[in-house]
Amino acid sequence: MALFDVRDLEVPIVGAPMAGGPSTPQLAAAVTEAGGLGFLAGALLTADKLAEDIAVARSLTSGPLAVNLFVPQPDVGKPSEIAAYAEELGELARHFGVQLGEPRYTDDDYAQKVEVLLDLRPEVVSFTFGCADAGDIKRFAEAGVATLGTVTTKAEAEAAVARGVDALVAQGPHAGGHRGTFDPLARPSTDSLETLVVTAGTVSDVVVAAGGISTPGAVAAMLDLGAVAVQVGTALLLSDEAGTNSVSRAALTDPQFTETAVTRAFSGRYARGLRNRFMQNHDPTAPLAYPQIHYLTGPLRKAAVAAGDPHATNHWAGTGFKEIRSCPAAQIVAELTGR
Ligand SMILES: Cc1cc2nc3c(=O)[nH]c(=O)nc-3n(C[C@H](O)[C@H](O)[C@H](O)COP(=O)(O)O)c2cc1C
Repeated sequence: MALFDVRDLEVPIVGAPMAGGPSTPQLAAAVTEAGGLGFLAGALLTADKLAEDIAVARSLTSGPLAVNLFVPQPDVGKPSEIAAYAEELGELARHFGVQLGEPRYTDDDYAQKVEVLLDLRPEVVSFTFGCADAGDIKRFAEAGVATLGTVTTKAEAEAAVARGVDALVAQGPHAGGHRGTFDPLARPSTDSLETLVVTAGTVSDVVVAAGGISTPGAVAAMLDLGAVAVQVGTALLLSDEAGTNSVSRAALTDPQFTETAVTRAFSGRYARGLRNRFMQNHDPTAPLAYPQIHYLTGPLRKAAVAAGDPHATNHWAGTGFKEIRSCPAAQIVAELTGR
């Protein structure tokens, strides 16, 4: 059975998977219906909810769909550092009248989700924070599912291709959300996306460029460099179909937020978002401990959203956030490709 090939897309736009709310079946279907590849986020939800999201997206489009998974990373959290960080966040938790979450380590039900995907067979499955093992990649191929590996360095590109992925997503330093860096303790690469696309192109024929792309000019530049498509996340955050929460929607167009930065303060893993007070106050002391810090700060972030406070929750976004706007996703996809 021929596997789906990103080069066959009518429009060279891949929607980014955006866990935590922004990715909805409606958004994935809208990007696919516009001629691109719509993505569902498989992380931070149960395997049952993932199956449900795939079914809803399938009911909305007969075109290709992709699903992303977070590959379980080694537990690098140090209990004493996590406890000290919890102590530091205590005052803010009291301010919102909530208990901090339990800083637990989980694998996000990865193995169960792999089985759901082998059963429901979206056209594409992608991985971040590492790469699936060669055995699972082979099972996907045998099930007719193409695999994409998110990479941030040449070494990661080589590792993903060695395991058998069909294509690469080259994620550059300007990307919104978590960096896909395999080693959770490594500082994410700051090499330019241009450099990464070219080096990844020496490892795979099929490279999708991601990170900070939100204008037709930036899309065209990546295609000129040899990328077969671009992946956009931030550009879709304000789309009608996105599930972006109302506080993040407002923050993304609020002039008080002038820049993004990479922080581990919210989740214990490096991610780019709007620079706000929480980030400024807590980034210097936050430990690298994913997903423990994600769970620890969860109730705080939820309370901040409920209270409409943009300074105590994360607003993941790439450096292109000033160019984005609210409209149907189909229009964003069309405009990015100059149609
Ligand atoms: C809100 C948000 C959530 C994200 N969640 C995920 C995710 O669940 N899985 C993943 O592989 N990448 C995730 N990313 C990163 C994207 O896949 C992609 O690399 C990034 O959006 C590209 O940069 P851009 O946002 O500047 O377009 C997320 C990005 C954002 C903005």
